[in-house]
Amino acid sequence: MTDDRERWALILGASSGMGEATGLALARAGYRIFGIHLDFRAAVAHVDEVKAAIEAAGSEALFINMNAADDEKRTSALAALRERFERSKAEGRDPYVRVVMHSLAFGSLVPFLADDPKAAVDRKKMEMTQDVMANSLVYWVQDLWHGGFLGRGSRIFAMTSEGSSRVVPSYGVVSSAKAALESHVRQLAMELARLDTGVTANAIRAGVTLTPALMKIPEHDAIIDAAVRRNPTGRMTTPQDVADAIVALSDGAGFISGEVIGVDGGEFITGS
Ligand SMILES: NC(=O)c1ccc[n+]([C@@H]2O[C@H](COP(=O)([O-])OP(=O)(O)OC[C@H]3O[C@@H](n4cnc5c(N)ncnc54)[C@H](O)[C@@H]3O)[C@@H](O)[C@H]2O)c1
Repeated sequence: MTDDRERWALILGASSGMGEATGLALARAGYRIFGIHLDFRAAVAHVDEVKAAIEAAGSEALFINMNAADDEKRTSALAALRERFERSKAEGRDPYVRVVMHSLAFGSLVPFLADDPKAAVDRKKMEMTQDVMANSLVYWVQDLWHGGFLGRGSRIFAMTSEGSSRVVPSYGVVSSAKAALESHVRQLAMELARLDTGVTANAIRAGVTLTPALMKIPEHDAIIDAAVRRNPTGRMTTPQDVADAIVALSDGAGFISGEVIGVDGGEFITGS
């Protein structure tokens, strides 16, 4: 069935890694990109390059530099999107958010137990990580749904990792956020189906991928070595692998919902 609506992709974490690659791939597939990111100083120059690449693909890049877990900022970001949609509607087009991608990397990489309690997790670090890396998905989807931004055929993707069910010494806080994120995806998938929205929600479990977020994990060298050893393809996952999967799953695939979909060349099934 053809879709003559104006397709937008909301990418949470659009300036780097998987979000950057997916935004560009969706732009090439005809989507306009609404990108949310959090960047400071030198990193801001890269954001301009990402936007330029999207525009060079013949698309549009509406980007906002903000904390995606801030309620007021989320409200004003969606007001900006509504204003942009009104312009399209005035020109006779029918815009909707076809793809939502949650690709935020912003967590405390500390153990639960450390000799110096300041080096261990505390309530603030735990709650901030859960809020950005898991709960923010629910609040964005609530506002998108209430605001009428989603339409039949919309697809929600949330980036998870093998850490949702495995342990790494410094990754405990993020692990718990990934487990919560997968649970949020299942709940959203069920509620969206019961409401007959025609919207699906899935988690994408990427293999170990070279990005700034990976390099922040203290054990990154050992994680990379293990990924290359385990991955039956003999290489690591790339942001482009994730982007290709999301582009493919965004067209059709309307009865796949509530799943954790591996995009890793078989790394997960190979075990240790
Ligand atoms: N890199 C890996 O090996 C790997 C594997 C599996 C899953 N993942 C997951 O994929 C997602 C993306 O990771 P990546 O490796 O592409 O990371 P990345 O560091 O390359 O990109 C992270 C993005 O999130 C944005 N961001 C971070 N905190 C934010 C906030 N509070 N508000 C708004 N934007 C914010 C950054 O600006 C950036 O655009 C994460 O959820 C990560 O856990 C990564």
